Amino acid sequence: MAVQRTFSIIKPDATRRNITGKIVDRLEGAGLRVVAQKRIQMTREQAEGFYAVHKERPFFNDLVTFMISGPVVVQVLEGEDAVAKNREVMGATNPANADAGTIRKDFAESIEANSVHGSDSPENAATEIKFFFTDAEIVG
Ligand code: PPS
Repeated sequence: MAVQRTFSIIKPDATRRNITGKIVDRLEGAGLRVVAQKRIQMTREQAEGFYAVHKERPFFNDLVTFMISGPVVVQVLEGEDAVAKNREVMGATNPANADAGTIRKDFAESIEANSVHGSDSPENAATEIKFFFTDAEIVG
């Protein structure tokens, strides 16, 4: 498996609790390298655009409102099989269903305040990385 990049967000519930370092530690421990990172406050327009694929879902407004409720840390992660590796270390969307030792099992508060986002395919990773980062901001 070749070196791959994926996109990650440390969500507002985690920045509020000041546990971004603990989450980065888990990502790095899984063999992922942070090759770009910035702390931002998303606008409603940005969050609606980023989650446009979910706009017909019943939770869309709650999700957008949550994602703009505080700062987030957006990241590009690099490593072998990075998309799948990141999903594995994140755990299931609903922390109640997440495996022991995953970020969401250990840190998430609920299915909404679930601490991290990670791209679900290499194609979506490329789109999501471009949504937040220029090429010059990514240093491998
Ligand atoms: S999917 O498409 O069915 O697999 O959806 P899923 O990946 O489970 O969820 C997509 C994102 O929506 C968030 N989510 C919710 N937010 C608020 N309320 C409810 N009930 C809810 N259910 C799912 C979930 O955290 C996912 O966010 P991201 O940022 O993509 O991880």
